[in-house]
Amino acid sequence: MGVLRTKSIGLLRENAEKNGLRKSLGASDLILLGIGCIIGTGIFVLTGVAAAKYAGPGIMLSFVLSGLACAFAALAYAELAAIVPLAGSAYTYTYAALGEIIAWIVGWNLILEYSVGSSAVAAGWSGYVVGLLKSGGIELPKAFTAVPADGGIVNLPAMIIALFLSLLLVRGTKESATLNKVLVVIKLVAVFIFLLLAGPKVNPANWTPLMPYGFSGVAAGAAIIFFAYIGFDAVATAAEECRNPNRDLPIGIIGSLVVCTILYIAVAGVLTGVVPYQDLNNAEPVAYALRAIGYNFGSALVGTGAICGITTVLLVLMYGQTRIFFAMSRDGLIPASICKVHPKYGTPHIITIVAGIAVALISGFTPIGIIAELTNIGTLFAFVVVAIGVFALRYTRPDLPRPFRCPAVPIVAPLAVLSCGYLMINLPVETWIRFGVWSVIGFIVYFVYSYRNSVLNKNEVKDKAAG
Ligand code: ALA
Repeated sequence: MGVLRTKSIGLLRENAEKNGLRKSLGASDLILLGIGCIIGTGIFVLTGVAAAKYAGPGIMLSFVLSGLACAFAALAYAELAAIVPLAGSAYTYTYAALGEIIAWIVGWNLILEYSVGSSAVAAGWSGYVVGLLKSGGIELPKAFTAVPADGGIVNLPAMIIALFLSLLLVRGTKESATLNKVLVVIKLVAVFIFLLLAGPKVNPANWTPLMPYGFSGVAAGAAIIFFAYIGFDAVATAAEECRNPNRDLPIGIIGSLVVCTILYIAVAGVLTGVVPYQDLNNAEPVAYALRAIGYNFGSALVGTGAICGITTVLLVLMYGQTRIFFAMSRDGLIPASICKVHPKYGTPHIITIVAGIAVALISGFTPIGIIAELTNIGTLFAFVVVAIGVFALRYTRPDLPRPFRCPAVPIVAPLAVLSCGYLMINLPVETWIRFGVWSVIGFIVYFVYSYRNSVLNKNEVKDKAAG
């Protein structure tokens, strides 16, 4: 059946071997890579929103729930990533393994993960920049730093960073491993400064009641701060560059998740311990908490580290989105004309700019919570599909070479589906409606355009004509 046509795994592997990337990464590189893509707006901004509105100090437990779901999903994801070890994304793997329409669904949801996710990260960046300028005595007018729902007109700093980074990506900024390492260190230093300064000021009285909105509040908080873990899939996509994927990938994925989870729980605990959780619903809760206990300089320092850290995450997400569009256009599922490569810079410049404008518009006018929730539901759905796919493939294609095998797949894959599904169920109804609308649009685009223009379809038609 046409919609289930698949790309040849053999051909993909051949291509991968021909254009092979250097196999230079070990487990510790992967852990750093993961941390570089993971720690950002989620911990620095959304923790505050989620604690104030849903979980209270129980946000610490929310991080455990969400981290567990990610660990199961990541193990399954890594198996698929290693079968088709292309520097790519779940979209490419699914196309080869499960067929076109499922790949389309995954790709369509990855657009939510990367493009809409970038918008939330840009909004988080803006919060810290505005706060830092304010503590330096420069107060930007609220009209131009807040979205209409928060009493402003437009979030201009968020728009500016999104457009600036897309121009940088057009020029072809190579992700440099060294720069990534430096920024990861700065980001980690910021987190540790916060913990060291604020830790001793924790007042345990602020932790009671632990779950002011009950366990359902903790679960709702977990569904939102899932955003803080997004990016761990980037580790799986580095399979092709691993020296020893079977050993290093699970260490890299689980290692970066464990490091982030520990830091997240610590930050969440200290944050809700030094100020009442109700006060945390602001644009820069970590810097705010330090100011509240009298560390103005520390607050500025942590704010600067947060800005550096969030910038790397934004760059990675914006880079990722253009590469997904690019892969989809190469397969004919979206028009090739918008993914043309720039003659001088060698980057897909049109789609980079178009996506940059979209990210800027979304972050300029939409509240960060709404965007983050939409990102989460799309990403979680993509993970559910991938986990089912990995499980199914063990039975339908047992012959495939699997450089990395998800351990205990009959347990881990269903747990990934259940835990990601559980987080999805805990997202608000409005988010489900938005997700429904997004999916319907996706199916319309697929059947009106992509099905017919797919390169595989064209090959099928040619074969029929010839045969
Ligand atoms: N996990 C990333 C962040 O929190 C997307 O910014």
